[in-house]
Amino acid sequence: MLSKSSLFGVFICAVFTAPPAGWAKGDAAAGKEKSQVCQGCHGENGNSYGPDWPNLAAQHPSYLIKQIRNFQEGTRTNEIMNGMVAGLAQQDIEDIAAYFASQSLEPQAVETDVEIIKTGRKIFKGGNRYTGVPACAGCHGPNGAGNGPAAFPHLSGQKSTYTVKTLKDFQSNARANDINEIMRNIAAKLTDSEINAVAAYLATLK
Ligand code: HEC
Ligand code: HEC
Repeated sequence: MLSKSSLFGVFICAVFTAPPAGWAKGDAAAGKEKSQVCQGCHGENGNSYGPDWPNLAAQHPSYLIKQIRNFQEGTRTNEIMNGMVAGLAQQDIEDIAAYFASQSLEPQAVETDVEIIKTGRKIFKGGNRYTGVPACAGCHGPNGAGNGPAAFPHLSGQKSTYTVKTLKDFQSNARANDINEIMRNIAAKLTDSEINAVAAYLATLK
């Protein structure tokens, strides 16, 4: 039987080891094993093998967990991904997220047209006051590193082809898993050339 004082100890431990709301601690080593199939596209270390497959390295666990759950629930739809994550249990999701989050992004080939990069940087840092586009940096951070507790994704170093696709999906409502339509409202105000420029700029960031 547990004494009153040891019960108190258990309670204190539970409070101090509880992870921030919305995500729990995963085991990266277990996640490496459990993500073998995912690595076929997203890369052994989370640097994906193709332009249509997002890098998962260095992404916030909170954001990865949210996306995997959204694919499971069907609130984010993608032919490949809905099936891929169907059988994952809660602990698997946390372990896989911990693994990819602990990996580093590798350098990639990027857009070299300085005008395009300059335009992308301008939108990212300052938005477009004529069309009401807010500065992306306001939520995604000055260097695109995102915000873990808020589950704002890390955008820097992402494959530009994927970033363009997902912004267009927000525009067309094909992707509609953003709380309060945050990204759908912003993407609706972006032109195609602004999308291309901001995606190219983000790929150049470390
Ligand atoms: C056959 C290739 C393939 C495999 C295997 C695969 N994925 Fe994906 N994954 C994709 C594609 C394509 C997307 C982009 C989906 C979209 O456009 O919405 C994606 C998106 C994601 C995202 C969202 C990333 C973001 O930045 O929003 C996560 C998280 C993810 N996959 C995790 C996994 C996990 C976990 C597994 C293994 C259980 C896995 N994937 C297996 C192709 C794959
Ligand atoms: C008010 C906060 C906010 C602002 C400003 C903002 N975003 Fe986001 N963004 C979010 C949130 C929250 C998500 C995650 C949505 C979800 O849960 O799927 C997101 C997701 C994204 C994604 C998807 C990342 C991935 O891996 O799939 C991209 C790309 C993106 N934002 C680009 C931008 C760009 C470009 C701008 C500026 C034009 C911008 N965001 C401005 C909050 C914001």
